[in-house]
Amino acid sequence: MKHVNEFPTPAVESRLPHVGTTIFTTMSALAQQHGAVNLGQGFPDFDCDSRLVDAVDAAMRAGHNQYPPMAGVPALREAVAAKIEALYGRRYDPGSEITITAGATQAILTAILAVVHPGDEVIVLEPAYDSYEPNIVLAGGKAVHVPLTAGSFRPNFDAIAAALSPRTRAILVNTPHNPSATVWTGEDMHRLAELLRSTDVLMIADEVYEHMVYDGARHESVARHPQLAARSFIISSFGKTYHVTGWKVGYVAAPASLMAEFRKVHQFNVFTVNTPMQHALAAYMADPRPHLELAAFYQRKRDLFRAGLAGSRLRLLPSAGSYFQCVDYSALSDASEVDFCQWLTREVGVAAIPLSVFYRGGLEQRMARFCFAKKDETLALAIERLRRI
Ligand SMILES: Cc1ncc(COP(=O)(O)O)c(C=O)c1O
Repeated sequence: MKHVNEFPTPAVESRLPHVGTTIFTTMSALAQQHGAVNLGQGFPDFDCDSRLVDAVDAAMRAGHNQYPPMAGVPALREAVAAKIEALYGRRYDPGSEITITAGATQAILTAILAVVHPGDEVIVLEPAYDSYEPNIVLAGGKAVHVPLTAGSFRPNFDAIAAALSPRTRAILVNTPHNPSATVWTGEDMHRLAELLRSTDVLMIADEVYEHMVYDGARHESVARHPQLAARSFIISSFGKTYHVTGWKVGYVAAPASLMAEFRKVHQFNVFTVNTPMQHALAAYMADPRPHLELAAFYQRKRDLFRAGLAGSRLRLLPSAGSYFQCVDYSALSDASEVDFCQWLTREVGVAAIPLSVFYRGGLEQRMARFCFAKKDETLALAIERLRRI
């Protein structure tokens, strides 16, 4: 029988007309279809510490199954404050300056909604994580894209200075950086502080890869830089640090006056984040070794992956932090980055992400991003395939 559309659904005018299915979803689906090793999407293919799972079980059995306080379980906020103080030397008050969020994604959106007014400009350094721009658009703001220096992906302070205007409300900085795997230095932070000194520009610091900085370098958390910290939301993710990306738990630290505005949005957005995971994370954080040992854990994987690809025709870019490794494939192909990555997935059996998708204008540099947060055997299989091309 023919369906008669008696009650048509009203058409809506999209709030995000330019957003479609992300390349991450597309590439993961293609990888599955072709049995490719998925080094595309950024998540581990190994399990978390079983003690963390036991801690969730214990929290649930202890009856921690109802709403926690709006800002998060106090013990977890205290553990986060203690960690930030131990590592970066700044004390945040767990009562008024730390909030637990549904992953870094919600923290970034909430910070933007809390401070960006219609017509405000927000500086985004490109290439950039894909949620930033839609978040700014939802707040009625305008993303002002400033490219990182071509080739090195270092911040270009002249370009940032030129992008500052009386309408600039905030700048988003991500270090260690997805996708380029670069990290900001202390000098970079100092230069940004100088640029912002005489302005009211706020900073949203995406530090989800804070514990993945390699070769003895240190993570330049904004928390180390008092002048910047006074104007910043600092955001991190337990998903990245403890190999539990599916739990979607993160946090934000900010001075009390900024946090008060953040919480106004947070309480009517998610209100709060699931209770047993928060108790489990609080208990697990009593031991600092998991986060202190993470850099060595991933540096070994990075070195394994790089050594394996050394004999291939892919040129390896530096990977100073995060769990990404970018490559330049220009010796191999003139294809566009999307075409190359699709070919790599289909014909070679390894999925990667084109760097062009991290640019609004789709800049083509013949570069692709691999994620090395994978079991050694997964990396070995990918290496074997990539050495054949
Ligand atoms: C730079 C960056 N920010 C934020 C996120 C989101 O983190 P979460 O999973 O905690 O929401 C990711 C995840 O890939 C990321 O790479």
